[in-house]
Amino acid sequence: MGKDWRDYLALAALTLLLCTFLFGGCTQNSEDAAMDATPTPAKTDPFELNRRLGRGVNLGNALEAPQEGEWGMTLREEYFKLIGDAGFDAVRIPIRWSAHADESEPFTIDPAFFERVDWAIEQAMSNDLLAVINIHHYEEIMQDPQAHKGRFLALWKQIAEHYQGYSAELLFELLNEPNTGLGPSTWNTFLQETISAVRQSNPKRALVVGPANWNNVSMLGFLELPDDDNLIVTVHYYDPFQFTHQGAEWVEGSDPWLGTTWEGTEIEMSGVLRSLDAAASWGEKHNRPLFLGEFGAYGKADIDSRARWTSFVAREAEKRDMSWAYWEFGAGFGVYDRARRGWNQRLLDALLPQD
Ligand code: GLC
Repeated sequence: MGKDWRDYLALAALTLLLCTFLFGGCTQNSEDAAMDATPTPAKTDPFELNRRLGRGVNLGNALEAPQEGEWGMTLREEYFKLIGDAGFDAVRIPIRWSAHADESEPFTIDPAFFERVDWAIEQAMSNDLLAVINIHHYEEIMQDPQAHKGRFLALWKQIAEHYQGYSAELLFELLNEPNTGLGPSTWNTFLQETISAVRQSNPKRALVVGPANWNNVSMLGFLELPDDDNLIVTVHYYDPFQFTHQGAEWVEGSDPWLGTTWEGTEIEMSGVLRSLDAAASWGEKHNRPLFLGEFGAYGKADIDSRARWTSFVAREAEKRDMSWAYWEFGAGFGVYDRARRGWNQRLLDALLPQD
């Protein structure tokens, strides 16, 4: 009798275990099936994703030109491999979508251009690089935001739907460097609307957003973000501007700055630290991860100064848990010298020290 009682108990326990396993398994399986059916990636913690964004490089001057190649830079398969092999974690891909979409409703994006961007993203992913895509150089929206708002939202609707099935390693950055007419308060409204438009097809993807006035750190205080906990906040850093943009053809009056050095004096360093501290304390206060999406010194500055500044900014950003992307890979600021087909070793070591 005692034996039977124990047997029943054992049988009951076994049944319970089996049920739990089966039902648990069933629930798990149906959840998996549901996951497979949904086209969106699982939600990632934005702080964790930002750590994975880590150290990156901008593929500038290619898809941000009016037509790829027009600014001398065409993306090639080998660049993604070089970037991955060198030890970078991510690429930021600036894209001028506005030059590849109809001017009138429904503002259709050229399918051939989409294919080119698909290819670039796939190259990044097959080299274990996270990819940040953005809308870059939509100059017209800076001049007349209201006139271009509908088109801007339509571009994002198409981009977001097109990439909704891509993994969480693809991040959307809403707009590079809002400026001029697209000032802080207009930009705050645009942000709200664009985020909710993108969220319709991508409820769980991390989005990258930055403040007005060219993503300047000093404008973070004016940035108003919606109640969305999956945002990474980006800033750009090019100070002292007369050093980083000396002789830049697109910056009027920058020739007299030629010869400006960056020696890493106390005063020079404290300028960098003040800005990065301000960004970091904003991030802490608002509980948002930070991405230094652009920083770099143009190739007309001397290489010693460039290497010193680049390494200082990168290390100080890292100390403040900021991910970063150097501006840029293979053009005027190039960490890679396409003519020589080799890395600019001083800059590469400044970015990715060998220790
Ligand atoms: C911004 C501009 C880009 C420029 C870079 C450095 O990203 O959009 O064209 O090269 O800053 O000045």
